Amino acid sequence: MPATSYSRAQIWLHWSIAVLILVQFLAHDGMEHVWRAFRRGQEAAASDIPLAYMHVVVGLAVLVLASWRLWLRATRGVPPVSGMEHPALQFLARATHFVIYALIFIVPLSGAAAWFLGVPGAGLAHVLGKDILLYIVLLHTAGALVQHFLLKSDVLRRMLSFGQA
Ligand code: HEM
Ligand code: HEM
Repeated sequence: MPATSYSRAQIWLHWSIAVLILVQFLAHDGMEHVWRAFRRGQEAAASDIPLAYMHVVVGLAVLVLASWRLWLRATRGVPPVSGMEHPALQFLARATHFVIYALIFIVPLSGAAAWFLGVPGAGLAHVLGKDILLYIVLLHTAGALVQHFLLKSDVLRRMLSFGQA
């Protein structure tokens, strides 16, 4: 049977990943300083090192939660995108979700490839990827708010119904 709502786990995963990504965007200075020092062959400031490790741990947590989320999507399914709007908007919603899914893997994996393996170009892919992620999430958020406040659909409510089984 196709799913008609998001499960509690899918909703918690959606918002936990969103919060962790927000943390990454707000607290990346330590990682940037340590990374710059490393590339210049200099010693990193002691105060930056815990922040750099936090960036790694939080980023890897996003990767683990994203894998769990994709697995749930494949096994349990998700409700169909809202039928209220124009087919072009439904396509935009699906395309946006696809790109976000791709980026919540590409961004932490490219970061890990730069940090653990020193893969050339991985740092650049990471920085470009997080920029695209930022803009696409802004578009996604605007879409959700338009759905809720202008089109009066239940799309945002179903992603907030934490009581679902
Ligand atoms: C979804 C997860 C992640 C997000 C949203 C994220 C976000 C960011 C942001 C905003 C920066 C600052 C870039 C800049 O403006 O210069 C950055 C830098 C960096 N991050 Fe992440 N990050 C994530 C995961 C990771 C992971 C898992 C690792 C390593 C295991 C990592 C390693 C790095 C490195 C090495 C840099 C410095 C790259 C450079 O400046 O060239 N990141 N990240
Ligand atoms: C970094 C932040 C975010 C990420 C990575 C993210 C990611 C996603 C993804 C991948 C989906 C598709 C779920 C699926 O079908 O499997 C989704 C759905 C959704 N997101 Fe987000 N999201 C973020 C922030 C937000 C914010 C801030 C809002 C609201 C203001 C929001 C509202 C929604 C809604 C309402 C849905 C359900 C759409 C539908 O059922 O058609 N998201 N999100």
